[in-house]
Amino acid sequence: MSDPILQIENVSKVYGARRALFGKTAEVQALQDVSLSVRKGESFGLVGESGSGKTTLTRSILHLETPTAGRILFEGRDLAQLSAAEMRRLRARVQIVFQDPYASLNPRMSVQDIVTEPMLIHRETLGLDRRQRIERAAELLSLVGLGPQHLSRFPHEFSGGQRQRICVARALASGPELLLLDEPTSALDVSVQAQVLNLLCELQDQLGLTYFFISHDLAVVRYLCDRVALIYRGELVEEGETDRIFDHPESEYARMLTRAMPEVRVPA
Ligand SMILES: Nc1ncnc2c1ncn2[C@@H]1O[C@H](COP(=O)(O)OP(=O)(O)O)[C@@H](O)[C@H]1O
Ligand SMILES: [Mg+2]
Repeated sequence: MSDPILQIENVSKVYGARRALFGKTAEVQALQDVSLSVRKGESFGLVGESGSGKTTLTRSILHLETPTAGRILFEGRDLAQLSAAEMRRLRARVQIVFQDPYASLNPRMSVQDIVTEPMLIHRETLGLDRRQRIERAAELLSLVGLGPQHLSRFPHEFSGGQRQRICVARALASGPELLLLDEPTSALDVSVQAQVLNLLCELQDQLGLTYFFISHDLAVVRYLCDRVALIYRGELVEEGETDRIFDHPESEYARMLTRAMPEVRVPA
């Protein structure tokens, strides 16, 4: 069993603790005492319905939210304890692909600018000059099934699936080990979903990436993930090997989800 790359320890998050709505204090307990650990090289699935806290957890891993309680460790080091310089280096190693490839690409930036931007942000860590960054961007585009001819194009010239490939290329640009995939295919047509999922599988094999894969689509999770955690209203209800959860669910929530599951679509 390989070492954990990411450990979530007793993480809770309460939003709006100090904000009042209609004179009452409006608090949302987005996460409640969540603990889980992701191993190097695995594909870990986080499943839960809308509003269950998945994005909050993802943003906490990126240190964009501060948990109200608990700790998040990357390779054994508490994110809250890192210096600004260490946090910058860490940001190169943990990247995210968002759900909506339409919203997450700046329409005014060329593909070259989009894919080289992380290399520019992390130039101290990566040490690539302008020419090397452009070469690397062309390589990354090939890796995701596009090509150097796309460098000068703009997001609106691409289909949804192609845009998500651009987002994946951008996420890979800083040479990350851990990719956070927040419902990366749920905004895409079913046929295109399969292609993007296959791409993600291939990239994981080629690059030895670790995936933290968020989804409400159990079929996709079953296809892609080694282990799965189920989250319901901010609480972890079950965690385990994917096959075990699907074949022998322990919690009522897992049984309910797997009963409701449609035929597993195995991407061709
Ligand atoms: N910035 C925020 N301020 C207040 N409440 C929020 C904020 N972000 C999320 N929430 C609430 O926290 C809960 C979990 O949201 P989220 O993490 O986005 O869930 P998911 O990604 O599983 O749909 C929801 O009730 C949501 O309304
Ligand atoms: Mg979300």
